[in-house]
Amino acid sequence: MSGNKAYPEMMLAVFLEKAGGQLVVKETKVPEPGPGEVLIKMSAAPVNPSDLAQIRNAPAVYDLDTFIPGLEGSGRVIAAGKGILPRLWMGKRVACSNENHTSGTWAEYMVTKAGKCFPLGSKVSDEQGSMSLVNPLTALAFFEIAKQNRHRAIINNAAASALGRMIELLGKKQGIPVINLVRNQKQSELLRQLGSRYVLDSSDPLFLNDLETLSHELKATILFDSVCSRQLEEMCDVLPSGSTIIIYGNLSGEEQIMLKPRTLIANNIKIGGFYLGARAREWSLQEYDEYQGGERAYERRSEDQYTGPVSSAGGAGSCRYLPWKYVGRESIAGHVEKVLRSCGLAGLRSCSLGLWVCT
Ligand SMILES: NC(=O)c1ccc[n+]([C@@H]2O[C@H](COP(=O)([O-])OP(=O)(O)OC[C@H]3O[C@@H](n4cnc5c(N)ncnc54)[C@H](OP(=O)(O)O)[C@@H]3O)[C@@H](O)[C@H]2O)c1
Repeated sequence: MSGNKAYPEMMLAVFLEKAGGQLVVKETKVPEPGPGEVLIKMSAAPVNPSDLAQIRNAPAVYDLDTFIPGLEGSGRVIAAGKGILPRLWMGKRVACSNENHTSGTWAEYMVTKAGKCFPLGSKVSDEQGSMSLVNPLTALAFFEIAKQNRHRAIINNAAASALGRMIELLGKKQGIPVINLVRNQKQSELLRQLGSRYVLDSSDPLFLNDLETLSHELKATILFDSVCSRQLEEMCDVLPSGSTIIIYGNLSGEEQIMLKPRTLIANNIKIGGFYLGARAREWSLQEYDEYQGGERAYERRSEDQYTGPVSSAGGAGSCRYLPWKYVGRESIAGHVEKVLRSCGLAGLRSCSLGLWVCT
């Protein structure tokens, strides 16, 4: 500890040694919170595919001497910068996401915008809380996109993933059928055991026939694809006319895929991408219009419940779902806990620095 600060000068954090090299744990200075920011003593952080993608791309984009990975996590707010929201979160256990690449969640302490945190209820464990943002907000965004564009059912690829299971669950909740695409029989059985009605195995010789039949039957005109494999070309051939394909991941690792212009034209297929960070920025702008900016007071209703346009105080949009809109009368923490539990996010293994790895 130094001076009156309730935290030490130095901390341990994860760094990438060199391009293509190992992750190493090194000592570095504990960051200080600026206006609108909080300092969090981290408790847990997951390893998401998005973290791995960020680490892979880091050498081309970031200075490796300062880059600390980790997009989301949980911990306790131990220092607050200027502003209403930082003061409101002071002392609270929160779910949080990082604000920039020099202060990630894979560290003992992290500085981030207060608007990128929300308080966790006492029933939510650190590990559950640490996975409250990236995948749950992505799943919610997919249904927002589907509804805005009046899609009656959706198709999701790599559907046995943590995110895929949330999408299936939200589909049931929102009355929008989900066709789950998986790559093998094991995943297919897993999803069926969890209660999924529509599951197609892409390794099955009848896969494309089944996809054609089911997507037409359910009017599933939007495909969310995180695999981006060569099979996408064949899928374009069988989707209902006018379908939209949204690419949100690249699990296949393919640098390039081929699509037939003739199919895209004849079948009127639209292709786009999705990145939660960009979507969150759009949310902030919309909220800015809606609330005409400015800092607003936050109304505290109970231990877990706050209302108010979080992004207007914190700047970032990733906590947009704090208002009741999407969670009815439940507290957000209770809602997230339920989502995570029903998605079967068990089997977590702890490793150094309070990181949690999905096994
Ligand atoms: N764009 C965004 O903003 C955004 C936000 C959140 C998540 N994502 C993406 O969403 C995807 C899922 O994330 P998650 O955290 O839910 O992942 P996860 O729980 O780690 O699950 C990954 C799943 O993908 C499957 N998979 C891996 N490689 C595959 C391939 N080549 N073909 C088919 N399936 C494959 C795995 O199957 P096995 O069990 O057989 O290995 C596993 O079921 C990732 O691509 C992630 O980057 C994107």
